[in-house]
Amino acid sequence: MMDWAGWVIQIMAFSFVLVVGSVALVAVVFFVIDRSQTEDAVRRNYPVIGRFRHLFTELGEFFRQYFFAMDREELPFNRAQRDWVKRATSGQGNTVAFGSTRNIAVTGTPIFVNAPFPPLDNQFAASEPLMIGPGARQPYVARSFFNLSGMSFGAISKPAVLALSRGAKEAGIWMNTGEGGLSPYHLEGGADLVFQIGTAKYGVRDGEGRLDDGKLREVATHDQVKMFELKLAQGAKPGKGGILPAEKITPEIARIRGVPEGEDSLSPNRHVEIDDWDELLDFLAHIREVTGKPVGIKTVFGAAQPFRDLLATINRRGVELAPDFITLDGGEGGTGASPLPLMDLVGVTIREALPEVANLLREFGLKERIKLVASAKLMVPGDVAWALAAGADFVVSARGFMFSLGCIQAMKCNKNTCPTGITTHNPRFQKGLVPEDKYKKVALYAKSIVKEVETIAHSVGVAEPRQMNRQHVRIVQDTGKSVPLDELYPDVDPRM
Ligand SMILES: Cc1cc2nc3c(=O)[nH]c(=O)nc-3n(C[C@H](O)[C@H](O)[C@H](O)COP(=O)(O)O)c2cc1C
Ligand code: SF4
Repeated sequence: MMDWAGWVIQIMAFSFVLVVGSVALVAVVFFVIDRSQTEDAVRRNYPVIGRFRHLFTELGEFFRQYFFAMDREELPFNRAQRDWVKRATSGQGNTVAFGSTRNIAVTGTPIFVNAPFPPLDNQFAASEPLMIGPGARQPYVARSFFNLSGMSFGAISKPAVLALSRGAKEAGIWMNTGEGGLSPYHLEGGADLVFQIGTAKYGVRDGEGRLDDGKLREVATHDQVKMFELKLAQGAKPGKGGILPAEKITPEIARIRGVPEGEDSLSPNRHVEIDDWDELLDFLAHIREVTGKPVGIKTVFGAAQPFRDLLATINRRGVELAPDFITLDGGEGGTGASPLPLMDLVGVTIREALPEVANLLREFGLKERIKLVASAKLMVPGDVAWALAAGADFVVSARGFMFSLGCIQAMKCNKNTCPTGITTHNPRFQKGLVPEDKYKKVALYAKSIVKEVETIAHSVGVAEPRQMNRQHVRIVQDTGKSVPLDELYPDVDPRM
C-alpha cells in the first residue's frame, strides 16, 4: 500500500510529464506549420522561436509606455501630457515641487511672456462668455472658451457619451455630437450641444442620404441643441468620409444614423449638394433658416487660396451669409478610424494653420463676424493658451476628454475591443466605464484647463484669456532660441 505522500509524488510526476509532453507536442505542431508556410520568412527559417518576435513586437506596444518610454517621448500623446489630465481629473491641483521636468528647449515649445506688473490677485478676471451667430434667430452665448470636440455615438460608446454630456453640463461647456446623429444619451446629460452634419447627414438624412428638412427641424426643436456644424473635413482624414466598421454598428446606432446594420457605414468624401463656395453659403443659409440657430463649418487648412476664395465670396454675397464659426482642425487630429496616408500625410498642422487663418479673417475684415474654433492636440493648458494667443476664439478637444474618461492610448478604437470601454459596444468592456463616476472627471478636466489658462493670462498681464495675442508667446526654435510668435506670423491687425 502506498501512503499519501507517495500518491502526491506520483500525481506531481504525472502532471509534470503531461505538461512537458503537451508543450513538446504543441512545439512540434508549430514547427511543422512554421516550416511549411511560405508567408513569413522569419517563422520559416526559425520555426517556433520566430513566433516570439511577433509576440514581443505586439506586447512591446503596451509595455513600452510603462517601462521604457521617457516622459515626453511617446506619440500621439506623451506620458507627461496624459499625466497632466490624470492629475486634473483627480482634483489634486497643479502645485508641484522643486522645478519643472519639462525640457523647454524642444523646438516648437510655446513660452509665455511674463508681465513686469501683472494685475493684482484681486483683479484676477475670469473668462468672458462670447456670442456666436448674432444674425441667427437664436444666437448662442458660449460660456467657456474650452469645449468638447465632435466624437460620434458609434465611434464612442453609450457610457462614454453619457459621461461626456453630463460632465460637459457640469463644467458649462458645449459638446459636439460628431457626425453620428443625436442620441438620447447626448440629451440625457443636459449639456449644450452642437449638432454636427457630416457628409452622410446621419440623423437628418432622407432615403437617398440627402438633408431632410423635417428631421433637421426636429433636431432644432431641442432647446439643448444650440448650434449646427457642417463638416467639410477633419484633420485625420481630409478628403475622406467617416468610417464606422460593421462590428461597431448595433441596431440602436443603425436606427439613430438611419443606415442598415451589418455593413460598414461609409460617408461620402464630400457633400454631394455643394460644388463651390456659393453653394456652400446657400446651404449654410438654408440650415440657419430651417433651424433658426447659428451654423458653422469644420474644415482643415491645406493652402491659403481656397480660404481667400471663401472669404472673398462672403464679402461679395454679404456677411449675413457667412458661417457663424469655422472649426479649424489640424492635420494631426484624431479619429475612430482613418486610412494611414491621410492621417500621416494630408492637412497642415494647427500650429501653422491657425495663425494663417486668423490673419486671413482679419485681412478680409471678418474676424469679428466669424468665430474661430481650433482643434488638434490642444489638450493641456499651454497649448490651449497658445491657440487663444494665436487668434482662436475657442478651443475644442476630443482626445483630451478621452483621457479624462480613462483612455490608456491602446489605439484599438476601430476594433470594438477598447479596454477602457470608451470606443467599444461590447458590454464586457463597457462595464469599466461608469458614467456616474467619470462625469466628474470630465468636468474637473475642463475646469482645470480653464483655470490654468486664466493663470497664464494673468501672468502675462491681461485681464481675460482672449486678450492674449502673439506678442505674449514665444516659440522655441531649432537653434534653442525662442522667437515671438508675432515675428513668425505677424498679426495683420491684432484683435480687430
Ligand atoms: C474617437 C473619435 C471620434 C471622432 N469622431 C468625429 C466625428 O464624428 N466628427 C468630426 O468632425 N470629428 C471627429 N473626430 C475628430 C475630433 O473631433 C477632433 O477634430 C480631432 O481629434 C482633433 O482634436 P484632438 O486632438 O483634441 O483629439 C473624432 C475623433 C476621435 C478620437
Ligand atoms: S483606450 Fe485605446 S481603444 Fe480605448 S479609446 Fe483609448 S486609444 Fe482608443
